[in-house]
Amino acid sequence: MNWLLEESKLFQEKLPTTIENMSLIELEQRVREIKDKLGEKLLILGHHYQKDEVIKFSDAVGDSLQLAQYAEKNDTANHIVFCGVHFMAETADILTNDDQHVILPDLRAGCSMADMATYEQTIKAWKVLTEKYGNDIIPVTYVNSTAEIKAFVGEKNGTTVTSSNAEKIVEWALNQGKIIFFLPDQHLGRNTAHKLGVDLAEMAIWNPITEELEIENNTQDIKVVLWKGHCSVHENFTVENINSIRSIHKDINVIVHPECTFEVVQASDYNGSTKYIVDVINAAEKGTKWAIGTEHNLVNRLINDNMDKQVYSLNPYMCSCLTMNRIDLKHLVWSLENILKKDVKNIIKVDQQVAVNAKKALNKMMNL
Ligand code: 13P
Ligand code: SF4
Repeated sequence: MNWLLEESKLFQEKLPTTIENMSLIELEQRVREIKDKLGEKLLILGHHYQKDEVIKFSDAVGDSLQLAQYAEKNDTANHIVFCGVHFMAETADILTNDDQHVILPDLRAGCSMADMATYEQTIKAWKVLTEKYGNDIIPVTYVNSTAEIKAFVGEKNGTTVTSSNAEKIVEWALNQGKIIFFLPDQHLGRNTAHKLGVDLAEMAIWNPITEELEIENNTQDIKVVLWKGHCSVHENFTVENINSIRSIHKDINVIVHPECTFEVVQASDYNGSTKYIVDVINAAEKGTKWAIGTEHNLVNRLINDNMDKQVYSLNPYMCSCLTMNRIDLKHLVWSLENILKKDVKNIIKVDQQVAVNAKKALNKMMNL
C-alpha cells in the first residue's frame, strides 16, 4: 500500500469537537486517567522525532530499532499506541502477537521515503537487475519501507537494516560476494557502503521512474545498486549549512544522520543513527559546541536537555518531518478514548502472508 499523504488523508477520521475544544490541561489529565485505568494493558511508544507533548506520555522512547524491540518484548499490552510513522507501526504489528493491536493515532503519519519504493516498482527493478546480474544480487531494505517491500526482501533471502546497524548488515551482505540492491534510501546505502570501502565508482543507481540503471563514470565492477529514494527532511541539510555554522563557531562539532547526502556526511565531523546522535550529545563534555543535522523535534529536545553544552540545529530554518508531526496530543487522546470505548480505530494490520515473509527479513537482521 502506498501511504502518500494525499491518499492516506482520505482514511483519517476528523477528531470530534469535544477533543478539538479541550484545553492542554484537560488533554493531559485525560491521558493520565486513561493510562491509569488501562495499566499494563496499554503501551505507548514514542519515536525520538515525536513532539514533546507526545513524548511526555510515552512508556518507551527510542529509535525505530529500539521501539520494534520494545514492542516485540512486551507481552502484557493488548493495545500498543505507536507514536511514530506508518512503517514503524507495521513493523511492530509484524513482531507482536495476534492478540496485540498496534494503533497509529493519525493515519496520515506516513514516510515520504518509504513511499518512494512501491512493491510493483520493486518487482520491475528486480526483473531487470536479475536479467543483468543473474542470482549474484541480494536485496537489502532500510526498515523505512513498506511491509510489502520487506516481504519481497525476506522472500529473496535478503535482510532489513536500520541506521543503527547499517554498517554491520551491509558488511555481512558484501561478504556474501553478491551485489547489494539497497532500498529505498540512496544516501544511507551510499554512505554506509563508502564507509566499508566501496568506491563511488562501484555503485550504480536504480531509477524507479525511468526504470533504468544509472551507471556514471563506472570503470569498475558494480558492488552496490542504490534505489533512487531519499528522506525529504535529511536531504535538505547542505554543505553550505556546515560552512556557515563553522564560520560563526570555529570549534563546533558537526554531527549528522546518514540519511543526509554523501557530501554533507563527508563534510561533517561525525555521522550516525538517531540513537548514536542522542548518545554522543548526552555524553559530550560540558562546554562543547555541537551542530546537529537531524529532525527538529529531537534537536530541540537535545538542546533543552544539554544546557551545559552549546547545541544548535545545523539548519534552524528547515521544515520538521511533517508526517512525524501529524501525531499530536489530541490524536493520542482520541486513540486512547477509542480504546476505552472498545471502538478501537486506526489499527495497523499487515496481511498475514506479507507478515510471514517480512518477518524473515526482520529476523535475519535481528539475528545478525
Ligand atoms: P531511526 O531508525 O534512526 O529511528 O530513523 C528513523 C527515521 O525515520 C529517520 O529519518
Ligand atoms: Fe521518513 Fe525522513 Fe520523516 Fe524519517 S524523517 S520518517 S525518513 S520522511
